[in-house]
Amino acid sequence: MAQARRVVVAVTGASGALYATRLLRALLRGGHSVDLILSKYGRYLLVEEMGLQPDKETITEFLQRLYGDEISAGTLVELGLNDLTCAVASGSVRTDGMVVIPCSTKTLAGIANGSSTNLIERSADVSLKERRPLVIVPRETPLNLIQLRNLATVAEAGAMVVPAMPAFYQKPSSFDDLGDFIAGRVLNLLHIEHDLFTPWRAGE
Ligand SMILES: Cc1cc2nc3c(=O)[nH]c(=O)nc-3n(C[C@H](O)[C@H](O)[C@H](O)COP(=O)(O)O)c2cc1C
Repeated sequence: MAQARRVVVAVTGASGALYATRLLRALLRGGHSVDLILSKYGRYLLVEEMGLQPDKETITEFLQRLYGDEISAGTLVELGLNDLTCAVASGSVRTDGMVVIPCSTKTLAGIANGSSTNLIERSADVSLKERRPLVIVPRETPLNLIQLRNLATVAEAGAMVVPAMPAFYQKPSSFDDLGDFIAGRVLNLLHIEHDLFTPWRAGE
């Protein structure tokens, strides 16, 4: 197994909670360690789109229900959105990067403005200032000029923007395939090995 990494994953209130669960599955399956932060609407969309039962199960139990023993190799710790005393709020604690998936335009604006008003914005701010990989997966359409400018701002500050735009040349046969395409592109940017899709081979 490849070297285990520590990745901060934030899930915010944009449609596409599947992208988050497929990324979490891949990270845990690969034996990696996840610091998970959910916004209020990130949790809401996990309920609405993926069937999370927040009163009955933890996120780990939810992922086990979805993906079974596949995820047992890794570890996941859920952090409080408003707990700025968490380790990942400090640049002194090393991680291997952060992913905001999906990223709402509201959280995008907070990151672009360096607001640090909650643990997601603060941890993203830390990733940028410490020059660690920060991958932002926005999901909105169409985009207005404010949102486009905020995407340019975070890219100029060093973030990598992976719009939630699955490709179709892989001939996806399920929603999971669509989710895995985005999760795999995120993992590529973090230099984390995966088998979520076969790279394109022209002419074969
Ligand atoms: C069902 C639902 C779907 C939403 N989808 C999106 C979306 O795709 N993109 C987006 O930027 N905001 C979307 N929103 C709006 C955000 O959830 C809202 O701006 C919220 O304040 C985001 O807060 P957060 O970034 O702290 O999660 C949606 C809201 C709801 C209730």
